[in-house]
Amino acid sequence: MPVDAASIARAADVVRQGGAVGFPTETVYGLGVNAFDERAVAKMFELKGRPRFNPVIVHASDLEQVRQIVADFPDQARALADAFWPGPLTLVLPKRPSVPDLVTAGLATVGVRVPAHSAARELIEQAGTAVAAPSANRSGRVSPTTAQHVLAEFGDDLPIILDAGPCVGGVESTVVSLAGSRPVVMRLGGVTVEELGRVVGPADVSAEVPADPDDAERARASPGMLERHYAPRTPLHLVDKLDGLDVPALGRRAGLLTLTDPGSQARAFVSVECLSAAGELREAAANLFAALRRLDDASLDVIVALRVPEHGLGRAINDRLSRASTAEQA
Ligand code: TXA
Ligand code: MG
Repeated sequence: MPVDAASIARAADVVRQGGAVGFPTETVYGLGVNAFDERAVAKMFELKGRPRFNPVIVHASDLEQVRQIVADFPDQARALADAFWPGPLTLVLPKRPSVPDLVTAGLATVGVRVPAHSAARELIEQAGTAVAAPSANRSGRVSPTTAQHVLAEFGDDLPIILDAGPCVGGVESTVVSLAGSRPVVMRLGGVTVEELGRVVGPADVSAEVPADPDDAERARASPGMLERHYAPRTPLHLVDKLDGLDVPALGRRAGLLTLTDPGSQARAFVSVECLSAAGELREAAANLFAALRRLDDASLDVIVALRVPEHGLGRAINDRLSRASTAEQA
């Protein structure tokens, strides 16, 4: 349903009454429920098929509401909030007791963010409550960047999906933990490590990638770091270069995901997705998940993805490609 005053009011009603809605943010579409309604949160976990050890981000419309969710808001949080909110940054901070354990998967911390998309903030305001929302995809799958993607994931299971067109960001929020003495990036995302560094100094990037997704203890740290996640159904082979790659050996029908036009090397593939003709990483991030979905729907035997430059948003793009991949070649 197109975003307007009436559809936002209806979606807010659904949230107030304990239901789940699909809604746009600047990063990806979310599956939103009242963060303080434990039954609604449980329903959302079930809908997504999400493991209970994976905490959910709580979305607030402003700083005042954030303070009702977190028990402490240190100076570093303040500086990051001033610099990047509303926007694609999630801060992990000590939670207030009123935040249900189900939302935080039993952790003492909660991930909070103020989204930049006006429809998201209006939904939260009108619902009169903070909104717990994971990306609106079945657990482990590619995140949705259009309302059509959400519909493809959940069909008639959602009473309403607010449609504001394609997301401008395309990769999810950067998750930063401020629980320790230094900020730690738990998930690379829309705010780059370089941008973070300009505000709080060098941040550590968590290299903790649980080898086994069933290893709940380690996965609890931030399941966005699970090794295989954001994954298409088609096997994805991640490479550094196309030169010397024996494409037919990988599969008869191969598709290619690249940043820029691969020139004559495109001939080895039945389907090619270029993320940005100009090689712009911001544009590439916005196109990433839709391109992955198109390739996944093209009845391919294999998707070959070419790594993008490892700086700025390229780090988040490579991170997602790596988690989507079944095989990597350094
Ligand atoms: O851009 C986004 O963040 C989107 C939109 C809808 O806001 N949401 C999103 O949610 O990507 P989800 O559930 O797909 O990913 C949330 C990530 C997971 O990796 C989760 O483990 C991490 O945030 N997270 C949430 N709360 C946490 C906490 N207390 N400690 C550590 N990681 C946390
Ligand atoms: Mg997700």
